[in-house]
Parts: sequence; structure tokens; C-alpha cells
Amino acid sequence: MILKDDVVLLRAIEEDDANVLMDLINDPEVENSVFGWSYPVSLSSQKKWILNLSNDTTVRYIIDVDKEAVGVAIISSIDMKNRTSNMNIKLLKSVRGRGIAMHALGLIIRYCFDELNMHCLTANVIERNENSRKLWIKLGFNEDGVLRQRIYKNGTYHNIVSYSLLREEYYERNR
Ligand SMILES: CC(C)(COP(=O)(O)OP(=O)(O)OC[C@H]1O[C@@H](n2cnc3c(N)ncnc32)[C@H](O)[C@@H]1OP(=O)(O)O)[C@@H](O)C(=O)NCCC(=O)NCCS
Repeated sequence: MILKDDVVLLRAIEEDDANVLMDLINDPEVENSVFGWSYPVSLSSQKKWILNLSNDTTVRYIIDVDKEAVGVAIISSIDMKNRTSNMNIKLLKSVRGRGIAMHALGLIIRYCFDELNMHCLTANVIERNENSRKLWIKLGFNEDGVLRQRIYKNGTYHNIVSYSLLREEYYERNR
């Protein structure tokens, strides 16, 4: 189902979203802030990728604000035995600093606990990504620890900071 509140609407990825996904993946600043690495992506290969998507252990949402696609939020590594999953989000630069990530992740977190019956949600952030680290703390996540030198970018290794939110902590905050 779609997820929505008074600010954002989270829905499935459509072929027409190729431009926004391509802009996010091709943006060096975003690439620098997140894990992994990417080839430059063309519009046609982005469209092909969208057509081949399947929801297995990953659920991807386009974030709409006022009917415009402004970013993507992802629930990944969904593990139905241990009831864990991981969260991730990327927004276009033009819409940042307006609380959109708080709204989008607030909906996803509630969906993970209320509908998927998750026990523990995780998020992993490159240590120097201060904005993202503050975001997870503001959402109530606990800073669990540091994985040393796991990400290689800009000619050097970076630590990962690992966050988690337990079901009981979430319901305690949101009674
Ligand atoms: C990280 C990101 C998703 C934040 O989105 P956003 O919509 O701007 O965040 P919000 O406006 O909801 O801010 C929520 C909180 O996050 C923190 N935060 C977000 N952007 C910040 C910034 N530029 N400076 C300082 N704190 C920031 C703050 O604690 C903020 O709360 P506050 O405004 O009350 O201080 C966005 O900057 C982004 O897409 N960055 C590039 C990709 C990325 O780093 N993704 C995270 C990977 S885990």
C-alpha cells in the first residue's frame, strides 16, 4: 500500500521516475554521502532497471511532495525470521532541510513495526555524514557502535556508524 501523511506520499517506483532516480545516482555529492559506488547511469538503463524491479527482501518507495517525486526511501534486508530490516533515504538537494526525511522515515518506521511486525530496524551511515547521523538520532535510533574503516571513498577509508531502533523503544516513544 502507499504510505502518506499531510506532507509526503510514498508509492511504488514508476517508469516516469527514471529522471529523479538518475539525478540521485549521478550526483557526486549524494554518491559521497552513501555506501556503494555507481557507474554513470543513462536514462535508458535507469528505465530498464525500473522495469526489472522486484520486491523480495527490499521495498523501494518514491517520495512525492505536492505530486512531485523528490527522493527515494528504501527498506532493505527484510528478514522475517529475526524480524529485522534496514532503512535508507536520498532526497534531491532542492528539497532538503524541510523535514521531508522525518516525515518519510516516520511513515516507513511505523509501517515496519505496525504492518511487517519488525522487532529491530537498523541504519548504517558513513561516520562523516553528520546530517544523516543527526536524522537517525532525531528519529529515536540508538547509536550502537562503529565499524572501522569499512568504506573506501576519496582515497581513504571511512568508519560506518551503526544505528538501531527496537520495537519496544518505538512504542514507548509513540504511545
Ligand atoms: C540526510 C537527508 C536524507 C536529510 O533529509 P532532510 O529532509 O533534509 O532532513 P530533515 O529536514 O527531515 O531533518 C531532520 C533532522 O536531520 C538532521 N539534519 C538533516 N539535514 C541537516 C543539515 N543540513 N544540517 C544539520 N542537520 C541536519 C537534523 O537533526 C534535522 O532536524 P532539525 O531540522 O530539527 O535540526 C538528506 O540530506 C539527503 O538526502 N542527503 C544525501 C543522501 C544521504 O546522506 N542519505 C542518508 C544515507 S543513510
